[in-house]
Amino acid sequence: MALTLADITCEYAEGSPLSYRALESVSLSIEPGELVLLLGPTGSGKTTLLRAAAGLLPSSAGTVEVDGVRIGVRGAQRAAVGMLFQRPESQFFALSVEEDCAFGPRNLGRSDKDARADGRAALAQVGLDPSTFGPREPWTLSGGEARRAALAGVLAMRPRYLLLDEPTAGLDAVGRDSVAAVIERTRHTAGVLVVTHDPDLLIRRADRVLVMSEGRTAFSGDVPAFLAALPALTATGAAEAPEVLRTLMLAERRLGRAGATPTLDVDEAASSLARMCAEGGVPR
Ligand SMILES: Nc1ncnc2c1ncn2[C@@H]1O[C@H](COP(=O)(O)OP(=O)(O)OP(=O)(O)O)[C@@H](O)[C@H]1O
Ligand SMILES: [Mg+2]
Repeated sequence: MALTLADITCEYAEGSPLSYRALESVSLSIEPGELVLLLGPTGSGKTTLLRAAAGLLPSSAGTVEVDGVRIGVRGAQRAAVGMLFQRPESQFFALSVEEDCAFGPRNLGRSDKDARADGRAALAQVGLDPSTFGPREPWTLSGGEARRAALAGVLAMRPRYLLLDEPTAGLDAVGRDSVAAVIERTRHTAGVLVVTHDPDLLIRRADRVLVMSEGRTAFSGDVPAFLAALPALTATGAAEAPEVLRTLMLAERRLGRAGATPTLDVDEAASSLARMCAEGGVPR
């Protein structure tokens, strides 16, 4: 079982003077149980790739398969893929939060009672009390609440593949942690693909990382390989290093030599720096 994108190429406004190639032959595969991070600078094609994965890019070349079935061939396959959009307010349409969260499950054929229960459970899962937030009009929510309510709407459908476009943007520390916890729980049953400018939060839990740059794959591999590739990726501007690694890389530069162990663990990083200093490097 997997959500597989093969050789996806996308050109916006194709054939017009404004045409723009947003994706160039990008491939990606994610299995239930996996967490994959999608990184890259603004405009590099992350949202476009997510839309392709959700079957929302009719004009793209390449193939998207959900568990071996080409997306769009059977409408039901689309239900297996849930997407949280980058601007959650664009996702609401019902008059109440609870109604909005129940819409997806009801659309999948669940009874009204079950759909509502699924919606309420999903709200609780993202840390929004269903009794307080369920009756609210979606547009009265704060930015952070709206993001979590939109996530609940997607979770309520229990997709096998969950695509999240910057799910922690605009959240405070508690909100970020609660989204990270939801992702951690969801990945037991689903493949989760997360676009983020905040790799620090999720990188330790990720199975793989894909870095986009100008519509192409700048890097694809597991976390240790990503950490090893970071100096090259940061030099070209394709990726930003997580804080711990950035500190290590700066320290290496100031010590005038390489050799720190690439790690995301603060303790390990401190030991590595201490070792480097003890071996005779003198900070400039
Ligand atoms: N409908 C469209 N028509 C023309 N160009 C588009 C369209 N949608 C997106 N683009 C362009 O395609 C490129 C990739 O956009 P995309 O939204 O995928 O970037 P992104 O990596 O998600 O960026 P960000 O981190 O800012 O969200 C951008 O240069 C964008 O301006
Ligand atoms: Mg985007």
